[in-house]
Amino acid sequence: MPEIQIMPSILAADFGRLAEGCKRAEESGADQIHVDVMDGVFVPNISFGPDVVKMSAATVSIPQNVHLMVQRPQDHLEKFANAGSDTIQIHIEAKCDIPETLAAIRGMGKRPAITLNPETPVESIFACLENRWVDEVLVMSVHPGFGGQRYLAYVEEKCATIRRMADWVDIAIDGGIDDQTVSRAAAVGCNLFVAGSYLYKQDDMAAAIADLRKQAQDSYCSGL
Ligand code: DX5
Ligand code: ZN
Repeated sequence: MPEIQIMPSILAADFGRLAEGCKRAEESGADQIHVDVMDGVFVPNISFGPDVVKMSAATVSIPQNVHLMVQRPQDHLEKFANAGSDTIQIHIEAKCDIPETLAAIRGMGKRPAITLNPETPVESIFACLENRWVDEVLVMSVHPGFGGQRYLAYVEEKCATIRRMADWVDIAIDGGIDDQTVSRAAAVGCNLFVAGSYLYKQDDMAAAIADLRKQAQDSYCSGL
């Protein structure tokens, strides 16, 4: 069974105290920090650049899970790799040569991951799995660009298909994950859980992370 991991998204942290937000996640038992990079072109919002990854990597010792919501990821890989990214996620909808860009990420010694939007068919990433170009798939359960949106349950079918195809791959789910939705996503084979607004609004983030982890472990693959 792949490890169940919880990845707080610092998009929901207080931007005036971002380093504290990273520290708080680590001290609360988070497994990785999820950094949402938005270029205002691929998505209608602008968030962080490589310097925020650098800050986060210097602040905590858990891995940096970097989600590139950018039109041309190939133009920015080196900066994000050098900043201390551990996993680099590119979108299948991005304007780039997918196998080449994923190979470049691996060539830099980083874990390559592919991400797909809610409306994108799962077949679009089959080649990434069949050729093992990726170590991780990130299924978007909201339309990318903003935190705090409602979980779209219709993406669960895609998660189930991916898990049936590949027991070795990490499946991350991103958007609207909380104490009501985590078990549904785990039931269809997700093992990595991004959670932003839910975790950062908690008084006791450690208890919330422990609860998400327990729920996910208890229901992992139970719906397959
Ligand atoms: C959305 C981002 C998500 C976001 C999740 O574009 O990719 O990572 O931070 O936020 P919540 O957990 O609030 O839906
Ligand atoms: Zn994200």
